[in-house]
Amino acid sequence: MAQTTPVMEPHRAQWKTRIGFLLAAAGSAVGLGNIWRFPYLAYQHGGGAFLVPYVIALLTAGIPLLILEFGLGHKMRGSAPMSFAKANPHWEWLGWWMVTFVMFGIVLYYSVVIAWCVCYLGYSLTLAWGPDPNAFFFQQFLGATAGPHVIGDIRSPILLGLVIVWLVNWACVFFGVEEGIERANKVFMPLLFLLLLILVGWTMTLPGAWDGIGTYLKPDFAKLAKPTVWIDAYSQAFFSLSVGFGIMIVYASYLPRHTDINRSAFQVAAMDTLVAFIAGLAVFGTLGYMMTKTGKPLTELVQHGIGLAFVAYPQAISLLPGLSSVFGVVFFLTLIFAGITSSMSILEAFTAAVMDKFHYPRKVVVTVLSIAGFLGGIIFATGGGLSWLDLVDHALSHYGLFLACLLQCLVVGWLAKGLHLREHVNEHSSFPLGRGFEVLVRFVIPAVILVLLGNDFTKDMREPYSGYPWLAIILIGRDWLVVTLIAALFVAMRPWRKPLDRQ
Ligand code: PHE
Repeated sequence: MAQTTPVMEPHRAQWKTRIGFLLAAAGSAVGLGNIWRFPYLAYQHGGGAFLVPYVIALLTAGIPLLILEFGLGHKMRGSAPMSFAKANPHWEWLGWWMVTFVMFGIVLYYSVVIAWCVCYLGYSLTLAWGPDPNAFFFQQFLGATAGPHVIGDIRSPILLGLVIVWLVNWACVFFGVEEGIERANKVFMPLLFLLLLILVGWTMTLPGAWDGIGTYLKPDFAKLAKPTVWIDAYSQAFFSLSVGFGIMIVYASYLPRHTDINRSAFQVAAMDTLVAFIAGLAVFGTLGYMMTKTGKPLTELVQHGIGLAFVAYPQAISLLPGLSSVFGVVFFLTLIFAGITSSMSILEAFTAAVMDKFHYPRKVVVTVLSIAGFLGGIIFATGGGLSWLDLVDHALSHYGLFLACLLQCLVVGWLAKGLHLREHVNEHSSFPLGRGFEVLVRFVIPAVILVLLGNDFTKDMREPYSGYPWLAIILIGRDWLVVTLIAALFVAMRPWRKPLDRQ
């Protein structure tokens, strides 16, 4: 690969190959959301027609934000806090807030969900969920309590799964960018693609699968007139591309100078969307098979999120003739690979931030953070964990994510004078961006985000989220954002170990 190294800071790590970077960035983007959220949204919002709002959301918001983050990290050669500090010294805290609410928020429960998948990988071997997977999951496995105020006991299988997940996270990030993250993604991502293809191929041979797939894809363009379809398309595009978390900023900071940033962003988005689309074939093929076997209509069987992976899929697996255990193993391994490549990206985003600012050694930072991540995850591995997960997720992956993206547009589009980001990303790109990019960053994306925030806010004001008591929503959900914000402000005020070289 062509590269000019002399301008590099000697101590900054670098990807060995461009494909390594692309797989790592796609690894972060492709996560549980691709498998259990996208297909459901498509089904709900016009089937094949949903691709129209989704692609528009990608082109007008998701990909521009990805280019913004890639460009910022690449130009500043730093993690999110360092990049923002170099762009505008008053905004370093924003970089800290992003990596903090993701490391000490999203990844805590995200890892617990991967831990559930690890447990279910084992359960697949014996179909341990028995005749009633719903009762098995909520009662026996989670020991779900009446609400977030009843913590219940710590579930030992989940705790064990969590140990495994954090060991893998730790091992991948401990060895650094090239030896750890790049290497892991070069193994996990191709395996993920392969498993997904096996899953889809297998599903298509099942009776009734095509009826399910037909329902998933049947376009209903009339649905596109509904605002919620567009709102869901945009919010899925943001979450799915892992923007607003500081991850893509740090991943791009390890790229050599001569990199085609614009093309890379399109490639990552394309891989992410392709996986989501293909996952939909597997999911709806399986639901179609269940429809045939049980005689129930699809509307009764369809599920998303946790219900899809841990109730509907186990039900379907039990119905399969022959190698049903193997089918379960393939499905849960797919989820695990999708999840781990995302969770390790968050660990790296925070690790790099601490290394940039305080110059602590990587191995120490990763080890401390992995232990903290494991300990912090324990609350989500209790009987009350599911309600906690739900509340924290609602606060962080809606308000946190949207606010972070909004502020990032404000800083880059309006406040960081002389950043010339568009010129920077165009420098080595095969297709240059026009002025429209600035219009998107300064006006269009902020406007879209304000609509998303307004929509969430009015909904939440009208009725408390998922019927939880207000006190729980405020104390657990909102305060999680506030506490991470205070922590970010505090860290941002600490001095840099070495003065920053402003770009
Ligand atoms: N993009 C991932 C998904 O679609 C989610 C994710 C969240 C990734 C947080 C990294 C960090 O599931």
